[in-house]
Amino acid sequence: MYALGIDLGTTFTAAATWRDGRAEIVPLGSRSAAIPSVVLLREDETFLTGEAANRRGLTEPHRVAREFKRRMGDTTPILLGGVPQSAEALTAQLLRSVVDQVVSREGGPPSAICVSHPANWGPYKADLMRQSVRMADPPGTVTYTTEPEAAAVSYAQQQRIEPGAIVAVYDLGGGTFDAAVLRKTGTGFEFLGQPEGIERLGGIDFDAAVFSHVRNALGGKLAELDEDDPAAVAAVARLREECVQAKEALSADTDTTIPVLLPNIVTEVRLTRTELEAMVRPVLYGSVEALKRALRSAGCTPEELHSVLLVGGSSRMPIVAQLVSSEFGRPVAVDAHPKHAVALGAAWLAGGASDEPADTVLATAAVAPAPVSAADVEEVAPVSPALPRATVTGVASVPGSSSGETTGPIGIPEAPASPDGAPAGVRPARRRMLVGAGLVLAAVLVASGVAYAQYGRDSDDEAAGGPTPAVNTSPAATPSPVPPADEQCTDEIKSNRRWACLTSAVISGGKLTLKYDAEYAGSKPDVNKGYHVHFYGSDGRNPPDHVMGSHVPKSQRGTYYYDDREPSVLSTDDHRFTSAIGNAKKVCVRIAIAGHGLVPDNNSTYRTGNCWPITRR
Ligand SMILES: Nc1ncnc2c1ncn2[C@@H]1O[C@H](COP(=O)(O)OP(=O)(O)OP(=O)(O)O)[C@@H](O)[C@H]1O
Ligand SMILES: [Mg+2]
Repeated sequence: MYALGIDLGTTFTAAATWRDGRAEIVPLGSRSAAIPSVVLLREDETFLTGEAANRRGLTEPHRVAREFKRRMGDTTPILLGGVPQSAEALTAQLLRSVVDQVVSREGGPPSAICVSHPANWGPYKADLMRQSVRMADPPGTVTYTTEPEAAAVSYAQQQRIEPGAIVAVYDLGGGTFDAAVLRKTGTGFEFLGQPEGIERLGGIDFDAAVFSHVRNALGGKLAELDEDDPAAVAAVARLREECVQAKEALSADTDTTIPVLLPNIVTEVRLTRTELEAMVRPVLYGSVEALKRALRSAGCTPEELHSVLLVGGSSRMPIVAQLVSSEFGRPVAVDAHPKHAVALGAAWLAGGASDEPADTVLATAAVAPAPVSAADVEEVAPVSPALPRATVTGVASVPGSSSGETTGPIGIPEAPASPDGAPAGVRPARRRMLVGAGLVLAAVLVASGVAYAQYGRDSDDEAAGGPTPAVNTSPAATPSPVPPADEQCTDEIKSNRRWACLTSAVISGGKLTLKYDAEYAGSKPDVNKGYHVHFYGSDGRNPPDHVMGSHVPKSQRGTYYYDDREPSVLSTDDHRFTSAIGNAKKVCVRIAIAGHGLVPDNNSTYRTGNCWPITRR
């Protein structure tokens, strides 16, 4: 006997089985365990689902339905070959095909099934999901859970979480964003406060932004195509797929090319991770804000969080872990297979609570205590060898946001012109698992560094002169001869093509005099048409550098002053400069480009300069 967990995603659907205290992902597809959430109606009025539907849909786009989870409850029918279909009916088709496949693979029906749905769905949509399940008429008892609950349950199998510990789940999938705060109980998890989410934020919005980048790069070539020409339609569908692949590749690589094979043009378009991140960053700020709201509603502070779980395929983008880590200062747990967590958790819930009514599933779920702790993750086998073990990473010196609310894909801007280069991103899953212990150790160090940095800023500003490098774990240390990290003009800063480093900052008689070294890669600094410097007041950490330019929306922008004078001594009593500096303890410098967007550094952050303590006389 086995139980079945199903995660019906906007873009991908996954299933996992549970038996004898072990949960295992079911390989539904030939290329990956998850299959595309795609349904196609053939001419003979039979349905195709998953990979086959996806493939055929390239050449029969009028017969295929994708991303219909976003259309749940929409009264406008989806036309497949002229036949109206509801999102619920299409979901039922997909569900039925998944169940059939698992039944035939396992040689019999499951005793129980647990189906997940977004936490921010109201009762109406959740009820439509139940209708879909009724239409699919699967065998066994069916219960329901929310996606973040299932993810938390799956995480608890891999990582020891003490009862009472609070975790936040940040689930960025293909179509929706969910944020939830849960507390571990003796037997499962309970929600704290209200889950939050953005219904229309996910990977497909990032795909659309990449496609739009390509469209712009091609001039009017896409618009010239004949929409009734099957060859053109198929070529555009392939181009869209290439855009998705390029986006995903940029989670591991720093730049990529998108092949364009259209009837009227054959070329390729280059895309860098920096460009992609510039497109997605504003809407990711919106997701971070949603998680903050979920925390507020739970009545807890970031410091109270055990960790933040990153779930969903789109959370593989390195910028996601960077933003979440820098914003909340808590360890971030990224599963080696963020897509699998929900299905595995649902399988655990189906297995452990098969006799329970849906609403009590979480409270009564039999979540076996995992014998794994953060410190000994490498030595102890996971509960089930089939479970990918989560790795815990912390990122300390990365851009984050403290303000700004964006509400979805509409806010995704075009990529700005930007230089190349960024560090290697996610490691392949296999390697990730092997180095798990090292990463966990790093997380412990980084987490303590973050805590200390906050301590220094809040209570010891005068003495510390700003935050201490993250690995310094001794808050009681006397002033060190080594300047704080933000004041150092490091080789890393100087490895950028353009950089600036302050060496002195004095305010005397209302006049501020700065000395700094700068490198402009041979060009002359120019505030109107070229590269130049931005100065701003800071404690070395706040406000963060990434808001100090026009590359962020106005509502999020900090106050900065720009200059292009040479030699590199600025002496001014300009009131604009005074207001940009305010009463800050330090002044910081960064390189900007014409139009005042900050230039990213080689690490895709904006560390092209340092900060310097201001001497006031
Ligand atoms: N390495 C990667 N880098 C960036 N994005 C990725 C990567 N791998 C997968 N994705 C994206 O993740 C999305 C799929 O994630 P997932 O399967 O978790 O979503 P879903 O369950 O279909 O959607 P939802 O949970 O929103 O309903 C797709 O948009 C896919 O392009
Ligand atoms: Mg999902």
